[in-house]
Amino acid sequence: MFAEDVPLSAIARTVGTPTYVYSTATLERHISVVQDAFEGTRHLVCYSVKANSNLAVLSLFAKHGAGFDIVSAGELARVQAAKGDVQKVVFSGVGKREDELAFALSAGILMFNVESREELELLDRVGRAAKVRAPFSVRVNPDVDAKTHRYIATGLKSSKFGVPFAEAVDLYRWARRMKGVVAIGLDCHIGSQLTDVKPMIEAVGKVAGLYRLLRGEGVALTHLDVGGGLGVTYGTEKPPGLAEYSKAIRTPLEGLDATIVLEPGRVLVANAGVLLSRVLYRKPTASKHFTVVDAGMNDLIRPALYEAFHDIRPVKPRAGKKLKTNVVGPVCESSDVLGSDRTLPVLEQGDLVAVMTAGAYGMSMASTYNSRPRPAEVLVSGGAFRVVREREQLNDLYRGETR
Ligand code: LLP
Repeated sequence: MFAEDVPLSAIARTVGTPTYVYSTATLERHISVVQDAFEGTRHLVCYSVKANSNLAVLSLFAKHGAGFDIVSAGELARVQAAKGDVQKVVFSGVGKREDELAFALSAGILMFNVESREELELLDRVGRAAKVRAPFSVRVNPDVDAKTHRYIATGLKSSKFGVPFAEAVDLYRWARRMKGVVAIGLDCHIGSQLTDVKPMIEAVGKVAGLYRLLRGEGVALTHLDVGGGLGVTYGTEKPPGLAEYSKAIRTPLEGLDATIVLEPGRVLVANAGVLLSRVLYRKPTASKHFTVVDAGMNDLIRPALYEAFHDIRPVKPRAGKKLKTNVVGPVCESSDVLGSDRTLPVLEQGDLVAVMTAGAYGMSMASTYNSRPRPAEVLVSGGAFRVVREREQLNDLYRGETR
């Protein structure tokens, strides 16, 4: 198996395992396809940094004109370190701290996506203290069912995200009397890994109605942020293509005087990355067969956290007999299973496997649980590759601790 023109085995030999491997060509293709799908409309693609926050990935998207959707001061610092355009940054999240608001305001970001009355109040204070008006949009909760995993659906009434429509209208009216903020947009995000455009059409339609209403009241909105969420194929899902997705968003917004802001994460990076891992042991038991590999739930938590499916493939094709096995990691948790009941060629100790579609929410959610250093990250380009994040070392694990 190759990443572009580089055999994964060559990467494993020089960098070791577990290692995340990303393809430049795929990342570039994805950002271009998304940008192109919205050609002819005023739009801004703000890559959702949380999906994969490696500086090399951010820098690549920045060079393609992307802005960024951030949720913390840390993500803003990453955008700055990657030389991303801070004026194209939108700041999302329900729990922004005062110092984070102040930092982002002084950095000069495009807008704050405000999620509560108290946050707006604080942003106003921060703006007045800095003697500027902080540009904001309210994230509304469109109350639609995104039909995705309950842990990643965010647009339902019961969700902690966004504010109800009626309250949003009040917030915009209230904000007119404030000296430290200025309303420039309206925002929503209904959830992640969406495989159907219907909830998106419904949400965008509702939000467009609210945008019109607010403009009618004289609120000078210029940006309509429709969030991210477009799904990818991990196994058998059939997410809409970019043309269909773009149409689903553009149609309800026809005639609207707004820059469409998009916050794609997963769709840009998921299929551009694999997690490369090595077989440690085979372990047949009376009831099940286990293949123990050197990547665990600390490296890729999606299967354990969301019961997510990631295809697992041998790096070197092996002909002949196949075996049903459970691919598990070394972490001391029963949920440390990367793939259960997988029919795979009979693997030998030392064989390499690739956990597919691991470019999104892989490394960015990795931890050092069980005091396991986090994996290295490698970026391939054509026939060359480079380490874009070094493997953590043992002494990194207790940096800052004292005896
Ligand atoms: N915008 C906002 C406000 C978000 O909360 C998110 C994701 C995105 C954009 C990007 O969504 P995407 O295009 O990547 O679906 N860790 C989970 C996914 C959590 C998504 C959180 N918010 C996973 O591994 O499936």
